[in-house]
Amino acid sequence: MERALFLAERGRGTTSPNPMVGAVVVSSDGIVVGQGAHRVAGGPHAEVIALDAAGPRARGATLYCTLEPCCHRGRTLPCVDRVVEAGIARVVTALEDPNPRVAGGGFAFLRAHGVRVETGVELAAAARQNAAFVTWIVRRRPHVTLKVAVSRDGFAGRDDESVKLTGGPVDRAMHRQRAAVDAIAVGSTSVLVDDPQLTARLAYRQRPLVRVVFDRRGRVTPAARLFETLNDGPVIMCVGQAAAGSARAEALRNAGATVIALPDADPIPAALRMLAERDVLSLLVEGGPTLHRAVWDAGVVDRVQVIETAVALESGIRAFVPSAAGASVTRHRYGADELVEWDVHRTD
Ligand SMILES: NC(=O)c1ccc[n+]([C@@H]2O[C@H](COP(=O)([O-])OP(=O)(O)OC[C@H]3O[C@@H](n4cnc5c(N)ncnc54)[C@H](OP(=O)(O)O)[C@@H]3O)[C@@H](O)[C@H]2O)c1
Repeated sequence: MERALFLAERGRGTTSPNPMVGAVVVSSDGIVVGQGAHRVAGGPHAEVIALDAAGPRARGATLYCTLEPCCHRGRTLPCVDRVVEAGIARVVTALEDPNPRVAGGGFAFLRAHGVRVETGVELAAAARQNAAFVTWIVRRRPHVTLKVAVSRDGFAGRDDESVKLTGGPVDRAMHRQRAAVDAIAVGSTSVLVDDPQLTARLAYRQRPLVRVVFDRRGRVTPAARLFETLNDGPVIMCVGQAAAGSARAEALRNAGATVIALPDADPIPAALRMLAERDVLSLLVEGGPTLHRAVWDAGVVDRVQVIETAVALESGIRAFVPSAAGASVTRHRYGADELVEWDVHRTD
């Protein structure tokens, strides 16, 4: 199963809106005879690649798979048919597929055809690997990561000029992360102060990256550099009801933006629902602190990343850093910066 989880990582950033899946076929005498990973939505499923590689050696073998094999006719044939056809004797999986079109149906089909089924092996690792997919299916919203860079003295930036807090090594890691998520979001003041491009420049990205700007009053203008980067993916401007009909909104549309009017009350959950409907499974909220706090207060943060930098600002806008009390925190050093991360365990 560890090998299957390792293989599944090959699809990180490219399988959305599908889950990442890895599979390994092990013969009855303990030899790996086939393996595979789901690499891209619409491409072959991991089980099928592994079974094809195993050929006749799959007869009587065990299939290890990070996710329950599918039993519905999507873009490809159901995997469970292939598993039975190949003569697999036993299927071991980590995670039941939460997709209501599967949800135990794959296991039931396999058992009905005489295949032994075990599930829950390396469950925590598999759930973490597919956290975005599971959140999107179960909660009908993207998996949300709050990313905060903080100065040594607790500031996020200045309100009148763009300041650089992070160094090259952590920037590269964060661009790799941008290359893997479906969307990133910022608040309007960050666009006005920093004029960012919001692209994955220091890493290779295969798919368009959705950029979301929360701008209730419609203060961002078409002159923002963001609108020069539409080749990298769509820009969604989330504006308030009043701003949606304004001439500024029309100018943003003409500049290539998608303008979405959000309800004035509770705009964040509405925005997340809208993004989920557009197949956004993972959202990285990059700042600034006003947006960080609003998203935190909406109770929709799944993961927190704090980059503790060595820079001192002495004055500016205070960073919003949620408490990590009770969480299992990991720390990685990148040059002068330290990346502190934890999952927010929900009780709802
Ligand atoms: N250190 C970091 O990690 C980091 C990252 C990014 C930016 N920054 C820095 O942060 C500073 C800007 O931060 P900021 O806190 O002033 O502004 P911000 O979070 O970038 O943007 C705040 C604006 O977002 C809009 N907004 C839209 N929907 C909202 C909602 N539901 N709740 C709250 N606000 C909503 C509000 O304008 P409306 O009322 O018009 O909607 C609000 O004024 C800049 O200096 C920038 O350089 C730091």
